[in-house]
Amino acid sequence: MNIVCIGSGYVGSVTGAAFAVLGHHTTVLDIDQTKVDLMNAGRSPIYEPGLDHLIENYIGKTLFATTDYSTISQADVVFIGVGTPSKADGTADLRYIRLAAQGIGQHLNPDKFTVIINKSTVPVGTADLVASIIEESSGLAADTHFAMASNPEFLREGYALEDVFFPDRIVIGTENPRSKQVLKELYFNLLNRVQYEEKSRDFQFAFNPKAPLPTYYETDIKSAEMIKYASNAFLAVKISYINEIARLCETLGANVTDVAAGMGMDSRIGSKFLQVSSGWSGSCFPKDTAELLATSQKYSCELTVVQAAVESNQQMHDYVVDKIKRKLKTLNGKHIGILGLTFKPNTDDARKTQASVIIKELIDAGARIKAHDPHGMEMFQQLNAALDVQYMPNALDVTNNVDAVVLLTHWDEYLLIDWSQVKTNMRSPYVLDTRNVLKPAYMQELGFDYEGLGINS
Ligand code: UGA
Repeated sequence: MNIVCIGSGYVGSVTGAAFAVLGHHTTVLDIDQTKVDLMNAGRSPIYEPGLDHLIENYIGKTLFATTDYSTISQADVVFIGVGTPSKADGTADLRYIRLAAQGIGQHLNPDKFTVIINKSTVPVGTADLVASIIEESSGLAADTHFAMASNPEFLREGYALEDVFFPDRIVIGTENPRSKQVLKELYFNLLNRVQYEEKSRDFQFAFNPKAPLPTYYETDIKSAEMIKYASNAFLAVKISYINEIARLCETLGANVTDVAAGMGMDSRIGSKFLQVSSGWSGSCFPKDTAELLATSQKYSCELTVVQAAVESNQQMHDYVVDKIKRKLKTLNGKHIGILGLTFKPNTDDARKTQASVIIKELIDAGARIKAHDPHGMEMFQQLNAALDVQYMPNALDVTNNVDAVVLLTHWDEYLLIDWSQVKTNMRSPYVLDTRNVLKPAYMQELGFDYEGLGINS
């Protein structure tokens, strides 16, 4: 099949590379020449483990990158994978979606039937909007010359290849029988793992043949659009919940790691997304919960559980700051080293991270901050130019003469640093591990005043 993926960000580049590996002629289309040049040079436009390798192996063979919208005229299937950032009122900004729809309309081939798929996370009803823009700019009719579908993406940054090749489910929203047929053909290789063994070298560490085969789930377009928001908001609620339980465990003397393990053994609950943190963050959960809440308010159908999860998440950020303050007596004039600026490991994505909220609160209370991140420092610095932070090229440098080290993101690198050297570097040996990944007994042996979250170390 001939596929075009509009957008070379997290959704478009990964989707494009995956379909190219699965044997489809796939073109990633982006208006940003720099990103297109990077792909044509065999490099990934984003930091995502394993993606460079795929692009390098498939570019010019089944994978192509271009800025030229006329490529749409060849396509059987067009994925829209552009960004949908939040506007100030929390609603999704659809300007890039509209631009993509106009571009598609201007180049749609009247002699072909093209399936247009929203893969970006878009508000319920966006497929209708895209269809009307395409009809207007092409003069062609929906369901005759083209059909809309929603096929939300569920990949996690940092694990995108594993999620794209071995998903739990493929959700397809379309009411058009022809597009249903096209989408079934499109996903045939992925659903049946055709040639996966032969191509396992390309998937690298993401290759997971024991993963159960995905479920192919067909529904109407609006329900598919809602499934994405409802899933992300549910996961956010789940994390907020375990973070609240962690705060209570700490007060009562219980251990949240054991509590989460015991809860997760109930298959109705499941063990995933019960990992304590200083609060969920990143480019998806904050944006998607905000959009869902704004829409629910607009239609006077308020989602009090999601609202509570958002408030609870802010309380978790505040709780971390209060915990440091309780330990150091005051934050004023204290030097604090932050390890991790991205919202989770294995990504360079530093948009809307918990680090930005926590660091701001620490600075407002008078603390001086040194920080490090293996891949997200540059983006964090650009997005948080107003924050007075000393960025250090090495993790160990963050720990020099500080009163506290706070581990916010559990990069493997931080588990492997020379913690005895950290102890020597610090002015006072307080370490707050907000992901409970360091070994309390080892840290105490080295002489640290070590604390996790929701555990009594
Ligand atoms: C999330 C969803 O998990 C994906 O299914 C979805 O496709 C994606 O959003 C999206 O909408 O594009 P992502 O934002 O990449 O993926 O990251 P997650 O792994 O879900 O983590 C989100 C936040 O929750 C991070 O801050 C992470 O540290 C935190 N988290 C996650 C916890 O605090 N505890 C957990 O147990 C799991």
